[in-house]
Amino acid sequence: MLKDKTIPSSWYSDEKILKIEKENIFSKSWHLLGSIDQIPNEGDYLVKTINEQPLIVIKDKVEGIKVFYNVCQHRGCVLLEKDGNSKQIKCGYHGWVYELNGKLRAARGFDKEDLDFEQLNLKSIEHYVWMKQIFVKLESDCNNLPKTLKEIENIISPIKFDNYLFHLRKSYKIKCNWKVYMDNYLEGFHIPLVHPKLNSVIDYKSYSTEIFDNFSLQWCHINVKSSPYKKTDDVSKAYYFTLFPNLLFNIAPGRLQTNIIEPINASSCNVYFDYYFENEENLESIQEDISFSEEIQNEDINICERIQIGLESDGFDHGVFSKKYETGVSHFQSYIEKKINNG
Ligand code: FES
Ligand SMILES: [Fe+2]
Repeated sequence: MLKDKTIPSSWYSDEKILKIEKENIFSKSWHLLGSIDQIPNEGDYLVKTINEQPLIVIKDKVEGIKVFYNVCQHRGCVLLEKDGNSKQIKCGYHGWVYELNGKLRAARGFDKEDLDFEQLNLKSIEHYVWMKQIFVKLESDCNNLPKTLKEIENIISPIKFDNYLFHLRKSYKIKCNWKVYMDNYLEGFHIPLVHPKLNSVIDYKSYSTEIFDNFSLQWCHINVKSSPYKKTDDVSKAYYFTLFPNLLFNIAPGRLQTNIIEPINASSCNVYFDYYFENEENLESIQEDISFSEEIQNEDINICERIQIGLESDGFDHGVFSKKYETGVSHFQSYIEKKINNG
């Protein structure tokens, strides 16, 4: 059921609500960690923190991609501090050593017969790879990610990202609740006013929103000639997918941009843009695409920070949704409301 009124403004600044969101939403969802492009060689690893859980994604020659809690089983020290490459995982506290597949190899200070090594391997986490993107789930799978990704695959067919290459990550710290950023992304209603340049590249009349279980799609036709994207002869489309709770796929001809939105506290969040391109050779058009995205992002940051001030003021409690243009936001807020009230 779609809502015609917004969730209460207090949910955008209340630390108690964020705590419930962490327990009811983030700990039970799939999270995107990055691409297998970022760990091509044996021993390459990425260090991540998801919902306050320290994790490592590592490339093992025999077992392939492995994801572990980045925590030593001796006395709980965090093992690795930043992305890198290693032949083994060594704890900097008392020197315990783990293999790349998580098996405890050496426990300094202990006789072999005193320890059950099998019980002291790194704690592993389930992961799922789709078109080179690595997802993990911390607890149960409420969102059925494989089903969602299959549906997305059918919608965007024949586009596939398997041969796209990771180009770079851009990070933004924004003074707004993570849901303000999501709400803003979930409608194109503001485009003519907030993003005049983007409005001249897209065909605003074609802008449509479609809602599904646990995700939604906004799409529109784009003017290939004036866009910074790959030039094709036919009419091209831009797809904006929102995967609940906090992941966006921004797809334009020849490029994928994944956006991850992570709460810092109730009134600020980090947003990460990871860029992938089909053709890495055309650096000029890649740069043009990134600059164009940054310009739009700065316009969105400005508006999101203004919204946060308004939501925290005494002058606003509930708002209303346009049935024509804001069904994506309403759909997302129905999901949030359900999770907060029922877990
Ligand atoms: S906590 Fe890691 S070796 Fe002691
Ligand atoms: Fe926007």
